[in-house]
Amino acid sequence: MTSIAVCPGSFDPVTNGHLDIIRRGAKVFDEVYVVVLSNSSKKPLFSTDERTELIRKVTKDIKNVKVDSFNGLLVDYAKSIHANAIIRGLRAVSDFEYEMQITSMNRVLNENIETFFIMTNNQYSFLSSSIVKEVAKYNADISELVPWEVEKALKKKFHHD
Ligand code: PNS
Repeated sequence: MTSIAVCPGSFDPVTNGHLDIIRRGAKVFDEVYVVVLSNSSKKPLFSTDERTELIRKVTKDIKNVKVDSFNGLLVDYAKSIHANAIIRGLRAVSDFEYEMQITSMNRVLNENIETFFIMTNNQYSFLSSSIVKEVAKYNADISELVPWEVEKALKKKFHHD
């Protein structure tokens, strides 16, 4: 059986932490679909198309990764591509409660799709898209935190280019 996993998120924008999870997920599953979804509690800086395009650029060297976006429930997207797994990254204990909540909800919605967690590399345990945007706004050096395509896109957004 082909193992197909969905790696969902807001990815506003994709960071080196996300990329680490995507790369490691792609070593375990036959196919990984990275999908940009909407999180109703967040107001994104980048449009869905911009976020999708950035992920596409920075994952183009990973053969078994596909990039997509979807306006709806994660489990509905997963079903549409016959995925049997969801991959999420876990940084710290502080992520746990939220992740447990969405995992439990997804299981209620579709019990056939299993969620797998990948522990973030220590090097990225503090990293989030929000913190990157916060410092990029003030033109800080973010070259260690995001791929250069994302750095460029953030500079443009904040008129530092
Ligand atoms: O990167 P994020 O913001 O932590 O990702 C959260 C996301 C987008 C995966 C989550 O909000 C989501 O799955 N949204 C789609 C709607 C959905 O399926 N909701 C039910 C689970 S909470």
